[in-house]
Amino acid sequence: MPHPLTDALGAALADADTGALRRATARLVEVYRSGAPPSTQVLADPVAAMAYAAYRMPATHAALTRALGEAGGLGALAGIRSLLDVGGGTGAALWAVAEAVPELERATVLDGSADALALGRRLAGYGPPVVAAAGWAPVELATRPTLPAADLAVVSYVLGELAEERRADIVDAVADAAGRVLVVEPGTPRGFAAVLAARDRLAAAGWHLVAPCPQPGPCPVAARSGDWCHFTARLERSALHRRLKGGALGHEDEKFSYVLASREPLPHSDARVLRHPGFRKGMVTLELCRSDGSAGPQIVTKRDREAYRRARDVDWGDAWGEPGGPDAAHPR
Ligand SMILES: C[S@@+](CC[C@H](N)C(=O)[O-])C[C@H]1O[C@@H](n2cnc3c(N)ncnc32)[C@H](O)[C@@H]1O
Repeated sequence: MPHPLTDALGAALADADTGALRRATARLVEVYRSGAPPSTQVLADPVAAMAYAAYRMPATHAALTRALGEAGGLGALAGIRSLLDVGGGTGAALWAVAEAVPELERATVLDGSADALALGRRLAGYGPPVVAAAGWAPVELATRPTLPAADLAVVSYVLGELAEERRADIVDAVADAAGRVLVVEPGTPRGFAAVLAARDRLAAAGWHLVAPCPQPGPCPVAARSGDWCHFTARLERSALHRRLKGGALGHEDEKFSYVLASREPLPHSDARVLRHPGFRKGMVTLELCRSDGSAGPQIVTKRDREAYRRARDVDWGDAWGEPGGPDAAHPR
């Protein structure tokens, strides 16, 4: 069944000129290819905003959904009633959080692109009530802005668009405004570096890391040369996406890095699976990030029946082991 966001995109973009969208998509692919911060507003006109919504929003929505699913599995989304989507563009996080948090009552999307905000509002009109009722407002993330208070702030695929020296200010601004902060970036070395800097800043300020990290000390993955912590989210490509971008596959795998941190202690996982598990007869090899600050392989054999049964079910990005932290009651 098509996702409601796919339906909304199909409806909102039904009359758009496919040729113009295709050209705008090609321009966005070019801008995002390097991963370097763009020097000017990328979503600078209505067609660019539509191309972004058609070609990137389903992927950022999928990454957010996966990250929120991990947090939800730990019980770390309880008590969220309000959302602030900072640099929210066309509202990917709004849709994802509304799905992951049924108790969500209100949401605000802030962005520097008037065209992204206008399209996001239009798309949201096709969404469930809390999505349709969201507020949309301009923001300039050039200095440390004062942001409205919310239970959760999401900064998704935004830090990488800001000059490096601006990012800490924005992390501080969202931490001032919200009790929980979710940062998501592309699953590239650059994207991971932006997430790591946010993670370390929040941890240094006394915030608690919920996911994916099992501990707030130095990141053991960052210490490994040529490695970076990232995960993947699979999404079906819509007919619209295939029309704009071509490609034979019916799906794509969005690689992303993320961190969810909380001002108050929340449950977190004991360990995190960092790769697709390796399967051999009677044996599963898990590459783990552990709460003792180490990362490395762990072999689970059939002799440990319970662990072996669980190891055969986990995948890259899943929590592993007994959860830690207060009121932890969601073993995986
Ligand atoms: C790659 S899009 C991400 C949109 C959305 N968060 C998502 O995950 O799909 C980056 C967004 O950041 C916004 N942005 C970039 N620099 C900004 C700035 N200095 N002030 C306000 N918004 C900015 C852009 O307008 C754009 O909507």
